[in-house]
Amino acid sequence: MESSTVRGNWSGRVGFVLAAAGSAIGLGNIWMFPYRAGQYGGAAFVFVYLGAVVLIGLPLLNSEILLGRATRRNPVGALRLLSPGTGWPVVGWLGVIAGFVILSYYGVVAGWALDYTWMAASGQLFSSTSGSMSGAFEKLAANGPRQVWWQGLFMLATIFIVSRGVEQGIERTGKILMPLLFGIVLVLLGYSLTSDGVERGLEFFMRPRFSELGWQGALAALGQAFFSLSLGMGAMITYGSYLGEDESLPGSVAMIAVADTALAILAGLVIFPLVFTFNLEPSAGPGLVFITLPQAFAMMPAPAFLASLFFLLLIFAALTSAVSLLEVAVAFLVDEFKFSRVTASVGAGAIIFCLGLPSALSEGFLDHVDALASNWLLPVGGLCTALFVGWSLDRAAARKFYAAGGSGRGFEMFHFCIKYLAPVAVGVILLQNTWPVISGLFAG
Ligand code: PHE
Repeated sequence: MESSTVRGNWSGRVGFVLAAAGSAIGLGNIWMFPYRAGQYGGAAFVFVYLGAVVLIGLPLLNSEILLGRATRRNPVGALRLLSPGTGWPVVGWLGVIAGFVILSYYGVVAGWALDYTWMAASGQLFSSTSGSMSGAFEKLAANGPRQVWWQGLFMLATIFIVSRGVEQGIERTGKILMPLLFGIVLVLLGYSLTSDGVERGLEFFMRPRFSELGWQGALAALGQAFFSLSLGMGAMITYGSYLGEDESLPGSVAMIAVADTALAILAGLVIFPLVFTFNLEPSAGPGLVFITLPQAFAMMPAPAFLASLFFLLLIFAALTSAVSLLEVAVAFLVDEFKFSRVTASVGAGAIIFCLGLPSALSEGFLDHVDALASNWLLPVGGLCTALFVGWSLDRAAARKFYAAGGSGRGFEMFHFCIKYLAPVAVGVILLQNTWPVISGLFAG
């Protein structure tokens, strides 16, 4: 097919799985997951999250990849091809927009990791502030230009990789960085599991405290599953569009989800024992990785080495995810408007960089954009995708797309989850969270 040479393709299954795992494993696993588990009742949050991954995440991941694979198009083009003359392509648009929104602040947080790696490796992080890591973080958060500089550097790297293409850029990066990432995690795990706080850390992380969860925690766990698996905004549709019809889906999908979940749990296992070893606050929120953890490093032997290693891990994870966020916009521009890949990467990347400036320059803005994206845009996008695959696409077509390249085993279960379970679960949680807003409107 002529268009596939222009659009690009994965070299094979391994390349695809590593690239998709690279998209899934990111700041969501290492930065967000542990702090949210810390805030919302430890294992109580983890249970809801695991449930969401299995019952909603897996079927949606399957759905997105099969939509991309069957159409070989970006999210907008995919829905238009399958459902011409309807409103469904709007869901694709929503995804492209979500990609812009998420990458705008994602680049800023990744920039913090670059700053920390630099500060740690050059010895500045642990020298001046005599252990006050909140001081170090506040200084960075208050320094707009410094954040913009690192964000810009990170965006340049992302643009560079995407502009090199699917196989030469994205796949190759995943193949190099994913194994390195797991290696670093194992080294850090060695430190944490032999630290004094290991028992208390595990107890905090592994014991469910349902009273701390609440509806808000449940929504956060669902949003976490979407965000972490890169669902609800077409990233996996886009990655699926570079996958050959001869590759079986369910096995690859399971590998991606297992790798992503494992890395989130491993991040918790690295962080909490260290936090307890030095009697620090485990439910510190977003500052857990940037304030609390460096505080723990500061009290260990070779803090600069450990901190550099940890933040390097964060950068690797963030980069392979950022690449997938940008790729959604690039595939859209290349397919729909016939831009060259390089022009599309540079153009979309530059716009996203500018959109991220408020997140870098004004404190607190980032949290709002993050909440908008992970609590609303992604669940709504996921809900619409489930409704499309479950109700609009006819069952025979869904079965054909699902089974291509494999035996089609598990289709019934998949279809049940995507048709009933996912829409109901996502709908209930969204409603529950919209209710205060709606009832507020009528109360006045
Ligand atoms: N999954 C990525 C993470 O966990 C973020 C992401 C979301 C990437 C949506 C692509 C699409 O950090």
